[in-house]
Amino acid sequence: MTTTPSTRAPRLLVIAGSARIGSLNRQLADLAARRAQALGAETTVVDLRSLELPVYDEDWAQAHGKPAGARRLRDLFAEHDGLILASPEYNALPTPLLINSFDWLSVIPAEDGKPSGAAATGGKPVGLLAASPGALGGIRALPIVRNYLSTNFAMVVVPEQLALPLADQQLTTPERLAKPDLDAVLDRVVASVVRQARWRIAGA
Ligand SMILES: Cc1cc2nc3c(=O)[nH]c(=O)nc-3n(C[C@H](O)[C@H](O)[C@H](O)COP(=O)(O)O)c2cc1C
Repeated sequence: MTTTPSTRAPRLLVIAGSARIGSLNRQLADLAARRAQALGAETTVVDLRSLELPVYDEDWAQAHGKPAGARRLRDLFAEHDGLILASPEYNALPTPLLINSFDWLSVIPAEDGKPSGAAATGGKPVGLLAASPGALGGIRALPIVRNYLSTNFAMVVVPEQLALPLADQQLTTPERLAKPDLDAVLDRVVASVVRQARWRIAGA
């Protein structure tokens, strides 16, 4: 059956702000992705480490050109309708991996019929998640990520968010979080992103 642009499934990127093997945030992002799929979305996992982005350095860019991984990230955003993002906080800030990746994205220009990095993200919904083995769950970085993505990347950050404390005790099965009330918050974050993405597709 042929689908029209207004009825196709929402396509969501799924990114973790930690590339660590066994990352709690990757596990949370994957759980969120499965929830999004259950709501009819298609999901694409992006491993930020695989983009092989150097630490942002203008002189490096002058010498080597902008890194291919940043263009790859731009292309991925251009091909998708929204984002599910799970990131730890490092000393109350978003991780260097996350910020470095998006900083590179922000300097990719419009070219070859493709949008700039910022235009590729603009108007697209994002749901914020954070996980930590600590008691705060990474909640201190979430307002910063919210501001960063909404201000600089014109993303529509949905109001619902989840900071998951004691995450190693919550992510004990692949199906759900151990605490039902936190699992219900995860549901609400994912549903909000999928809903916004559908609205965006319908309005396109
Ligand atoms: C440099 C550094 C700083 C950290 N700062 C915080 C912090 O401010 N708040 C917190 O809850 N956990 C903090 N942690 C602990 C991380 O939440 C923990 O390592 C977590 O497992 C990282 O996420 P991941 O499992 O997805 O890799 C920090 C870890 C590192 C390496």
